[in-house]
Amino acid sequence: MKIAFAKSEMPAAGAIVAGVLDDRKLTPTAAALDRRMRGALGRALAASRFKGKPDDLLAVLAPAGLQAARVVLIGLGKVEELDDLALQAIGGRIVAHLNAVGETRAALAVDDLPGAKLSAPQMAASLAYGARLRSYRFDRYRTTEKPENKASLKRLTVTLDDPAAARRHYEPLDKIGEGVFFCRDLVSEPANVIHPESLAQEARKLAEVGVDVELLGEDELKKLGMGALLGVGQGSARESHVVVMRWQGAPDAKDQRPIAFCGKGVTFDTGGISIKPAGGMEDMKWDMAGSGVVIGLMQALAGRKARVNAVGVVGLVENMPSGTAQRPGDIVKSMSGQTIEVINTDAEGRLVLADVLWYCQDRFKPKAMIDLATLTGAIIVALGKEHGGLFANDETLADRLLAAGKAAGESLWRMPLGEAYDKLINSDAADMKNVGNRHGGSITAAQFLKRFVKDTPWAHLDIAGMAWSEKDAPTVPKGATAYGVRLLDRLIADYYEEK
Ligand code: BES
Ligand code: MN
Ligand code: ZN
Repeated sequence: MKIAFAKSEMPAAGAIVAGVLDDRKLTPTAAALDRRMRGALGRALAASRFKGKPDDLLAVLAPAGLQAARVVLIGLGKVEELDDLALQAIGGRIVAHLNAVGETRAALAVDDLPGAKLSAPQMAASLAYGARLRSYRFDRYRTTEKPENKASLKRLTVTLDDPAAARRHYEPLDKIGEGVFFCRDLVSEPANVIHPESLAQEARKLAEVGVDVELLGEDELKKLGMGALLGVGQGSARESHVVVMRWQGAPDAKDQRPIAFCGKGVTFDTGGISIKPAGGMEDMKWDMAGSGVVIGLMQALAGRKARVNAVGVVGLVENMPSGTAQRPGDIVKSMSGQTIEVINTDAEGRLVLADVLWYCQDRFKPKAMIDLATLTGAIIVALGKEHGGLFANDETLADRLLAAGKAAGESLWRMPLGEAYDKLINSDAADMKNVGNRHGGSITAAQFLKRFVKDTPWAHLDIAGMAWSEKDAPTVPKGATAYGVRLLDRLIADYYEEK
């Protein structure tokens, strides 16, 4: 789907989309259409349950007095509540409707609204961004899909008085969208296509947008002493990798320390010798979502030329059972020097991140370090699919993440850390074991990671419940969500970018 901005026009084909505020208050464009249609829109509204709430949508086909195929009225809600997130959701709903009814082109009219917080160009940009985010599809492997099931909408033109201003507002959003789509693609790909080697090659493509990309293979990882990460990958026929991505968008910053992002990149998690049950195991192709988010974020930052120095480090491994696989009871030595008794080979994400976190803080001395991981099923039990789990050793960083999550529409919920939880992963045979007992599984996993963080302000985002969705949402079609890309881009925009 192509998105364009243009001066207001009366399209000769396709759909015209216009807004209606709460209590059926027509926007100027909707009122003008109603006049052209000799009051038919008003009568259609009166005959329907459409009130103008954000979920309301009413389509009038073959409108008399117009050449367009349809007029779509979309509820905007209360004018004072029209913020970026509300507008993105409305843009998403419009796209979903137009694709569902087989429309190929549409003009979306945006008016200046008295009492609105945002200008028409700002509203136009947010609507377009939401439309773009919803238009995502992963259909590369569908060779026999019926035309009526394919996405029909080819072109969405957002019309307003000052299209150039809207384009300026939209440009950075478009770049974030590219990062979101890159992440969704990587997470959607099956594990026979995206494995540690191919995912490393995908990350390498970020060089095209100005990111410095470094690949570390098993020989280098061995030299670095990453025994925890390598243990997870040792059962796989694929070589494990660590990829370091650097975006230097603030070369003149006073504080040259970067903000760092670490991602769990288990390209497939069978559980290893502690093998998972067969039912649902296919979901574990998206166990690399943490790394997908870090890669998508780096793309977004570079794309919009964010004035920040950021580094992304992802640990890419495949957790397989085989004759060379790690066994329960094995003791591995992490890069930090601490030893780990591997009680359960399915608690592998923390082993990967242990070395990635250590390496990242050791090499880059970041001013803040944030990891993302589909780390535990327990976080889904605790928070469902509405919030990512947030663990942090630093109040400022935690508060910023909570605020950025709210602002970006990707919510987090703070979870506790503490001494008593930490004790649960003490081992009789080594410095620690990789699982606690049955209680507080997400927390003991976070405590494990914490043992590999020195005094760097650090946060851990357990995104196991958020990386993949079973149902369509206004700006997130079902499937890979890229949850985290928008949140972390917002964190940087609001707190870490140079002015
Ligand atoms: N990748 C899984 C966690 C997961 C589960 C992500 C469901 C997404 C959906 C992780 O590696 C894992 O297997 N965790 C175990 C930990 C347990 C062995 C302590 C879990 O959650 O069961
Ligand atoms: Mn696992
Ligand atoms: Zn896993």
